[in-house]
Order: sequence, then structure tokens, then C-alpha cells
Amino acid sequence: MGGFRSLFGIGLVAGLIAFWLPIVVHFVKIGGVFETPAPTLLGEGQGPIRIEDTIHCEDVHHYRPANLLFTACEDTKDTRFDWFPGLGHLRPHPPARGSIHVIDPKTFKSKRLAFTNFEGSFVTHGIDVIEDPTQEDAVYIFAVNHLPNPEYFESSEPSENTFKARSQIELFRHVLQSDSVQHVRSILHPLVSTPNDIYADSPESFYVTNDHFYRDGTMRLIEDIYPRAKWSSIIHVQLTNLQTSDATAGIEASVAHYGLWNNNGLGHGRTKNEVVISSAMGGELYLADRYAINNTLSVHTTIPFTTVTDNPSYYADPYRTGSDDASGFVVAGISQHLKLVKTGKDPNGLDPVQVWYARPQPDSSKWETKLLFEDDGSRIRTGSASVLVPIEPENGQKKAWLFVTGFLSDSMVAVQVEL
Ligand SMILES: *[C@@H]1O[C@H](CO)[C@@H](O)[C@H](O)[C@H]1NC(C)=O
Repeated sequence: MGGFRSLFGIGLVAGLIAFWLPIVVHFVKIGGVFETPAPTLLGEGQGPIRIEDTIHCEDVHHYRPANLLFTACEDTKDTRFDWFPGLGHLRPHPPARGSIHVIDPKTFKSKRLAFTNFEGSFVTHGIDVIEDPTQEDAVYIFAVNHLPNPEYFESSEPSENTFKARSQIELFRHVLQSDSVQHVRSILHPLVSTPNDIYADSPESFYVTNDHFYRDGTMRLIEDIYPRAKWSSIIHVQLTNLQTSDATAGIEASVAHYGLWNNNGLGHGRTKNEVVISSAMGGELYLADRYAINNTLSVHTTIPFTTVTDNPSYYADPYRTGSDDASGFVVAGISQHLKLVKTGKDPNGLDPVQVWYARPQPDSSKWETKLLFEDDGSRIRTGSASVLVPIEPENGQKKAWLFVTGFLSDSMVAVQVEL
């Protein structure tokens, strides 16, 4: 009996260690347990330049053909601490009416676009911006909208299986240099459940990450901390109708990828068919091939980092030469993720940020990673997306403006970096 009991005891301890060890190891490495932020020192003329009127903008994209940045912002500091399904914040609160902004990276000014044909709430998260294939000076903008589920909040007795959030995707069209953005249609589909970020390949076809399988509760917590909780998915959506006012009409959706831990941001890669995927909690970027034939993604390369990695972007160095190419992947993330459990609901909290850059090492399959910018949260709070805008090199030194934004940042900032 005693022998059995001690065997049982050893088994239990071994089981606990097997469960907790990967979590502890991972959180020491990625979660920033022992991290002390070391804010980057900036020289004269290197910023930070605060972009006015960019409150809580989770994502930013550099639309190179017009040299403009696009972002989607909450526009108010009051709402996200209660209502933001992306952080598991599901406390009833009248949701925000955020907006799409265009930023001129030469003047560092942001302009809110007025909506045409779009009423109601807009709780912003990831976006993508692609050229209108039929009109060179127009773009399509896809944007996540985390709406509350009326079946939960407007029902006196919502059933246990009724989710609090009913997130959808909004499709807009914008003529460059105009002051407005036209709503094309809403996209609501059961496979798109916890949308985070979007990769569009045409106005009718896009990919969207579901960052979690679970929306709240203990299982979501486990999903957040357990490296083997590889339950997140990427959905491909094909639209067969852009004219409909029914959010559920004209949609064909399928699973494009399944089995990554907390897949989060999506970005366009080096070629037309390369997709960059981030695992936020995993602290990794994945490069994947996109197969138009069956609308699936196949990961072929992993780039590991030492912090949370959110929305990735690819910087194509316009001044590259055969021997000097500063092209690479840029990714921002919060560097002390464990703190977010508390600070995520605190309007005055500080969340440190790191922005990383990775490029292939010459003649090697390895990646060279470099910390481009770090802050303790006082210049920029939370980092979730970052893009590089090139500056003409001086004396052979490659430079760029790095724009950094966060899901809880008061304003986007731009700092000058050397590459
Ligand atoms: C999709 O097509 C590609 C290219 O033909 C193939 O390699 C891949 O296995 C296919 N994926 C699935 C899930 O069928």
C-alpha cells in the first residue's frame, strides 16, 4: 500500500512538473519575468514624434504605392478597459465608435476618415490594406470589428452557449487623398470567432486569425500560458458578393491553418504568396506559403524572438544593393506580458515595449535579430504593430522612421532608427 502510495505520489509530482516546467521556462524567456526595460536612448532629431489623435490603434500598415500609413483606432481611452474581446475584456460597456486613420509619414499627421454608409459601433483591432485592382488610386481596407452579441446583451436570459462577443469583419473602400471611407459590407461567419488580424489577397479573398479557441474563463487562461495549447486557427474567407447588406450572405469560409499556439498577427511577406504569421505568446514568427489552389497556408520557416510578437510587417529596403540589403521583418510586442493581467484593465498602467527586426544571415539559414527600439511604457504603452518607412541613406548608413503603435497606447510614435 505504502509503495503504491509513493509511486502515486511520484507520478503526481512528475505530472505536475511535466505540466508546469514548459510554462515556467517559457515565461522566464518570453513573458519577461526578470526583464527590466532598458528604454532606447534617442539622439537629436530621432524623436519620439507623437502622432496626435491616434488613441489605442492596434495595427498599422504602410501602403507603399502612396507612401501612406493606415491604422484603425478606438479614438477614446474609456472603452477598451471594459470591452475589448481581444484581451478577454467582456464587461458590458457601450462599445466605441472608432475610425480608420491615414497618416502621412512625412508630416507625421493623422487624419480620421469620415464614414460613408456605416453606422454603429466600431471596436477596432487588426486591419489590412490592399490596392483596388480596378483603380490604381483606391484601396480596400479590411478591419476587425468586435461587436457585443445582441443575443447575449439584449436577452433577459441568455443561454449558456451564447457568447458575449459577436465579432465581424468590415470591408471599406477608400479613394486615396479623399477624406472619407466607404463601407462596402460586413462579414459575419461562425468560423471567424475570435478574429485578430487580416491578410487580404483581393477584395474578395482574405485570411483572418482566430487568436484563441476559448473566449474567456479558465480554459482561455490555460490557452494563454500553456505552450502546448496549439488550438488557434487561421480562416480563409471567400466573398461571392460585395453588394450585400446581409453580413452573413455571399461568404465561403474554410480552415486555412490549424495548430499554432495563439496565432495572432498576419503580414505580407517577401513575395506575393508569402504570409507572415505571429504566435503572440509563443514569441515566434512563421513564414508560410499561401496556396491559392486550396486556400491553405503551409509554414516553412520559424523565426524565434525573446518577447511577445504581435503584428508583423515586412520592410523592403528600396536602397538595397547586391551586397547591402536592409530588408527584413519587423515585429512589436509587449516585453512584460505577465504584467498585462493587471495593467490591461488599468487606464494608467504602463506596459513596456520592444520592437524587433529580423533578416536572413548571409549564406546561412539562420536569422539575425536586432532590437530596434525599447521603451518602459512611458513614451509608448503596449506595442502591437510597427512599420519602417525608409529615409535616404547618409554616408552609406541605412536609416528609417519606425512607427510604433499599441492596443493601449495613447498615441502612435515615430522614432528614427539605423538598420
Ligand atoms: C494544398 O495545395 C498544396 C499545393 O498543391 C499542397 O502542397 C498542400 O498539401 C494542399 N493542402 C491541403 C491541406 O490539401
